[in-house]
Amino acid sequence: MPVPAGPEGGAVPRHVAIIMDGNGRWAKARRLPRIAGHKQGVEAVRRVATAARELGIEVLTLYAFSSENWRRPEEEVRDLMGLLRFFLKNELKDLIAEGVRLRVIGDYHALSSDLVAMIDDAIARTAGNGGSTLVIALNYGAQAEILAAARRLAAAAKAGEIEPDAIDEAMFDDALTTHGLPPLDLLIRTSGEQRLSNFLLWQAAYAELLFVDTLWPDFDGTALAAAVAQFGQRQRRFGGL
Ligand code: IPE
Ligand code: IPE
Ligand code: MG
Repeated sequence: MPVPAGPEGGAVPRHVAIIMDGNGRWAKARRLPRIAGHKQGVEAVRRVATAARELGIEVLTLYAFSSENWRRPEEEVRDLMGLLRFFLKNELKDLIAEGVRLRVIGDYHALSSDLVAMIDDAIARTAGNGGSTLVIALNYGAQAEILAAARRLAAAAKAGEIEPDAIDEAMFDDALTTHGLPPLDLLIRTSGEQRLSNFLLWQAAYAELLFVDTLWPDFDGTALAAAVAQFGQRQRRFGGL
């Protein structure tokens, strides 16, 4: 499928995912509490989501809370959930106005019931939007996602609904929470860490990886445009020549 040319003439990724890391270190460098970094992180989400739309990126997937992040102190988890509440409350009208469809991946039903209701409402009210898609990963873990898909397919096979031999990559893709989204083209992690931390392990099979030193609260449209330009210079071979 032909991809449109970006600002530097290279291809624009259709689907970009970001591991938004470094909020705590941003705050620490300023002798501020970690929550101050998370607050600035929400501002970065706003900026970067707008920039992604302007750059012509169809899908932006953001890692907001991992299934491992429950290991953090209770107070920090509570602060993060509070910010999520704030974000959903403030952003919904803009998402609707901008024609953005919201999707959530991860087991968000484990969050508090008021958040679940807010998320379901936001998903329902943006479901008809076709402009671009914002995917937020909440209580997300890729291994759990893959296991859930495997269990669902195994149950379908046991029930005689599908033949085990018929399970192929496409069927597995469909059983994942990212079903129907374009393939992941570019995966960015901020803050200098070079690991995937249980994010989109299946989907990243042929994604281009980009690790940048910028801390997430400092990431902006210019940084995203630079990442897209770098992507445009990469030669993707998918195992061919
Ligand atoms: C990313 O920033 C935000 C979440 C994981 C929710 P961190 O909170 O991980 O920031 P660092 O890694 O401690 O700097
Ligand atoms: C990954 O960041 C999760 C999110 C950005 C939501 P972490 O800061 O939790 O990852 P680790 O613990 O350094 O691997
Ligand atoms: Mg971190």
